[in-house]
Amino acid sequence: MPESRTASPEPSRPLRVVVFASGRGSNFAALIKAQRRDELSIDIVALFSDRSTAPALELARAAGIEAIALKPRDYASRADFDRAIFDRAAQLTPDLIVLAGFMRIIDPAVVAPWVGCMINIHPSLLPKYPGLHTHARALEAGDAEHGSSVHYVTAELDGGPVVAQASLPIINGDTPESLAARLLPLEHRLLVATVSLIANGEIALRDNLVVHRGHALTAPLRLDANDNLR
Ligand code: GRF
Repeated sequence: MPESRTASPEPSRPLRVVVFASGRGSNFAALIKAQRRDELSIDIVALFSDRSTAPALELARAAGIEAIALKPRDYASRADFDRAIFDRAAQLTPDLIVLAGFMRIIDPAVVAPWVGCMINIHPSLLPKYPGLHTHARALEAGDAEHGSSVHYVTAELDGGPVVAQASLPIINGDTPESLAARLLPLEHRLLVATVSLIANGEIALRDNLVVHRGHALTAPLRLDANDNLR
């Protein structure tokens, strides 16, 4: 369990990161790739999944990262499972937990000690469309743009303070599938850029406000064409 409420690296070592994923793991793969290219000063210590067949687990093994799958059906309740998986993660003393396609609503009591040390990537421009089917909902609403958000995880589903967003225009003929496909590479860039800011100690959560280089954000940072967050 983290001692402070904010993920902050010690100057002497890279940020220790644990990733949780339920499926494909392309955002996890983007973190591995950036770390390998020395674009991210992080140490990815483990990948956790709630699905033993998640392709993300294979990606971890192939990268030499510890891959841990726990099965929800082995636990008496949802909360028991959540406690077990987070207790296991805590043993690895991560500075930051990244939820990258982890398709579970986590028990609020389990989330509480990690507030400030856990982020999630969500495929919508929050506060629009928390929950599922975000691409279809953006299309149904007739939105001109869509996007993705990285936010600190709090007890409220997809409701924690948003750190950064990336957006793209919705074009004529878009379907939920085409929108998801165009958004995915942007999501990868957004996640890498956000984790990089955290690893460099430039972002923290204080009193439920995202603080960027000492200043509380009044709006989420936006990803520009050069992958900088402004
Ligand atoms: C991404 O769209 C992410 O925003 C959402 O789940 C998806 C995960 O994709 N939370 P992947 O498993 O990282 O490929």
